[in-house]
Amino acid sequence: MKVFLSEEEIPRQWYNLAADLPTPLLPPLGPDGNPVRPEDLSPVFPMNLIEQEVSDKRWIDIPEEVLQLLYQWRPSPLHRAVYLEKALKTPARIYYKNEGVSPAGSHKPNTAVPQAWYNKQFGIERLTTETGAGQWGSALSYACALVGLKCKVFMVRISFEQKPFRKLMMNVWGAECVPSPSTETKTGRDILEHDPDTPGSLGIAISEAVETAVADTTGKTRYSLGSVLNHVLLHQTIIGLEAKKQLAKIGEKKVDVVIGCAGGGSNFAGLSFPFVLDKINGAQIDIIPVEPTSCPTLTRAPFAYDHGDVAKMTPLLPMHSLGHEFVSPPIHAGGLRYHGMAPLVSAAVVEGLLTPKAMNQLKCYESALFWARTEGFIPAPETSHAIAAVIDEAVKAREEGKEKVILFNWSGHGLMDLKGYESYMEGRLTDYPLPEEDLQKSLKSIENLPKPKVAKTGRW
Ligand SMILES: Cc1ncc(COP(=O)(O)O)c(C=O)c1O
Repeated sequence: MKVFLSEEEIPRQWYNLAADLPTPLLPPLGPDGNPVRPEDLSPVFPMNLIEQEVSDKRWIDIPEEVLQLLYQWRPSPLHRAVYLEKALKTPARIYYKNEGVSPAGSHKPNTAVPQAWYNKQFGIERLTTETGAGQWGSALSYACALVGLKCKVFMVRISFEQKPFRKLMMNVWGAECVPSPSTETKTGRDILEHDPDTPGSLGIAISEAVETAVADTTGKTRYSLGSVLNHVLLHQTIIGLEAKKQLAKIGEKKVDVVIGCAGGGSNFAGLSFPFVLDKINGAQIDIIPVEPTSCPTLTRAPFAYDHGDVAKMTPLLPMHSLGHEFVSPPIHAGGLRYHGMAPLVSAAVVEGLLTPKAMNQLKCYESALFWARTEGFIPAPETSHAIAAVIDEAVKAREEGKEKVILFNWSGHGLMDLKGYESYMEGRLTDYPLPEEDLQKSLKSIENLPKPKVAKTGRW
């Protein structure tokens, strides 16, 4: 029911999809509309990570010292969800990577650890970041403790209130965590003046974290992002590369369906990109990113150039976007409330390599409970989106009488998210499918930005 790899068997290189996309990735643009140069990003990120961000090399070595840190919990186990299969009476074989075994409880440390390490190598002393549900903030706090960096986290206010234990985890690892918008930055103060009761958003928290990093005149502070960017997705590919070895070990020759929930796209990409490569090379695989209907970035938003944050401090990224001013309804899957999507995931959707799906909150909680009562582990609300799609696929396999192999990313546990479960079980939650008029209103913020050329080979 579980497949382990020894530490010697861990992948020693990350996989970069940018090398294999059939149509090359478009560049990010600066305020003047011209492509951003690596040096333009240097006040925000250290150059060793910028090199990864712009790299088109297919394989990038994982430094030995980073591997030594990752061994604290990696390789993560691949489980077969036998009890779920039985309960659903499906002929499908369902496998999942358990990323909940990391110290912070999710996939996020897979990039937090290398990011902290590369910053330390570059002579940086402090990192700032944002966090939605608190998973990323706690992962970076943990990673900073490992390598000896200070860490400051701006946490989206609604989650700060919903999930007090996440903040305490950050404090245990020695980091500082404040609710966003805060009074500590100009962005935060401006927003609070207009809307003192705002629940906050990832877009606002990113602006506050970037503003704080670039304001440090000593040059010893940088910003760190937990998703979306190419180097973040790169670090996460260790998940899919391990899964491939584990599936081979257990004798599976082919995967039919690969699923992950998608907020900024990092855990989905981490599991799926090595399989996207197989698909580019001719394999028949359905690869499904799953998002909430309240924040339908891939299923309803256009592929556009947009800022990653509300104060427009980041470059324009070529991505599916609901508009940088989008403030998502307060669903409990805080990590899936981001207005944009990773450019690499967006490009793969444009190319037709992926089939995105959107799920309603109530169905996700129903699936999470079904999962917990069959497989035992309590999933994070974000992860429950992947589970809902897995159950749909397993039922489809039963109806079609097909012995499919389904692989998904169990991106994190929900032990710090039990308030959301309580609200669900007491019948206090509702669905929030995004009304069309709200979508159109939000898209106004990108109307006058440059438009990316939508290019695709038409092979998928
Ligand atoms: C457990 C878990 N899964 C998924 C996500 C979504 O992020 P991403 O799309 O970058 O994997 C988050 C984000 O906070 C998370 O905490």
